[in-house]
Amino acid sequence: MARLLPGFKLGSFKIDVPLVLAPMAGITDLPFRRICRRFGVGLTVTEMVASRAVDMKRKRTERMVQVDPDEHPVAIQIAGSDPHYMREAARWAVDHGADFVDINMGCPVKKICKQLAGSAMLRDEGLVRSVLEAVIDAVDVPVTLKIRTGWDEQSKNVVRIARIAEQVGVAMLTVHGRTRAQMFHGQANWEDIGRAKAAVNIPVIGNGDIVDGESARRMIEISGCDGVMVGRAVQGNPWVLAEVRAAMLGEPAPPPPTPEQRWQVVHEHLQHLKEHHGERTAVQLARKHVPWYSKGLHGAAEFRREFQQLQSWQEQCLAARNYFLGLHEQQLAHAA
Ligand SMILES: Cc1cc2nc3c(=O)[nH]c(=O)nc-3n(C[C@H](O)[C@H](O)[C@H](O)COP(=O)(O)O)c2cc1C
Repeated sequence: MARLLPGFKLGSFKIDVPLVLAPMAGITDLPFRRICRRFGVGLTVTEMVASRAVDMKRKRTERMVQVDPDEHPVAIQIAGSDPHYMREAARWAVDHGADFVDINMGCPVKKICKQLAGSAMLRDEGLVRSVLEAVIDAVDVPVTLKIRTGWDEQSKNVVRIARIAEQVGVAMLTVHGRTRAQMFHGQANWEDIGRAKAAVNIPVIGNGDIVDGESARRMIEISGCDGVMVGRAVQGNPWVLAEVRAAMLGEPAPPPPTPEQRWQVVHEHLQHLKEHHGERTAVQLARKHVPWYSKGLHGAAEFRREFQQLQSWQEQCLAARNYFLGLHEQQLAHAA
């Protein structure tokens, strides 16, 4: 099968395989992105940083945007509605290693929307323009934008926002095919992504509900997008990235991971969490990430229950090792 997308240039980078890891607050930290990069993402994006938080120079904020020396290209995502703070945040992002500054106008969370940031900004096209102009003026790296299709079904303005973005010089646009009102419900509308794509000449990345190679292929076909972004499906399943990548390249899907391969990745993830966040926070974060890796596997419910009780990193490693390698024995027993 033929390769589906040719890739594109973004600043000085060629995004050869335009497969983007979705920014997810509280999830796409450095340990998670490190794992995902092994499976062939062409571009990673950090967790969102509120532009006002940048002003506080907090250690936690710094940690949120820490990137690996070899993590390129990488975008640091900023959110906010005040052009002054957004300009400062963009410069700060570049100082912290961003190859691109990504602006979040898609976040549906109330706390963010109340400050007229995230997806709430889509209701004020004048403000969208001012913020984009301020950020583009502030930095020399490409500025990218992530949006939803509008505030609600009645006020979808994805095409107008895409045109504004192109006019002011945004280098790449990502469209999550839902309105803000939809939050994460219903289905992403890939035709709406296609409308944005048809309206502009900058690369458009399609996002929403890609769960495997086949859904990526269909989104590309329906929307005509230049690349795809995958989020929730990667939680506990970075292998889906390799599958999507193979589909994009017209290659056969890779085989599912063996229990050893699964454990190896979980183990690395646990190690990265400890190294990056320190043991205490790592234990808390592992309670979220590690059970995701057991989704759909034999004995997952019991494993999850037990894992939540564990208090130390060592105990977590041991329990995960026993569970994921034990899957192998179960498979062998099943085959016998
Ligand atoms: C827990 C969580 C956190 C998210 N945080 C962000 C964020 O910080 N910035 C952003 O632009 N989108 C954020 N998103 C939205 C995702 O980037 C993506 O647009 C959405 O999940 C749809 O893609 P998917 O169906 O592949 O998950 C978040 C989504 C989830 C589930």
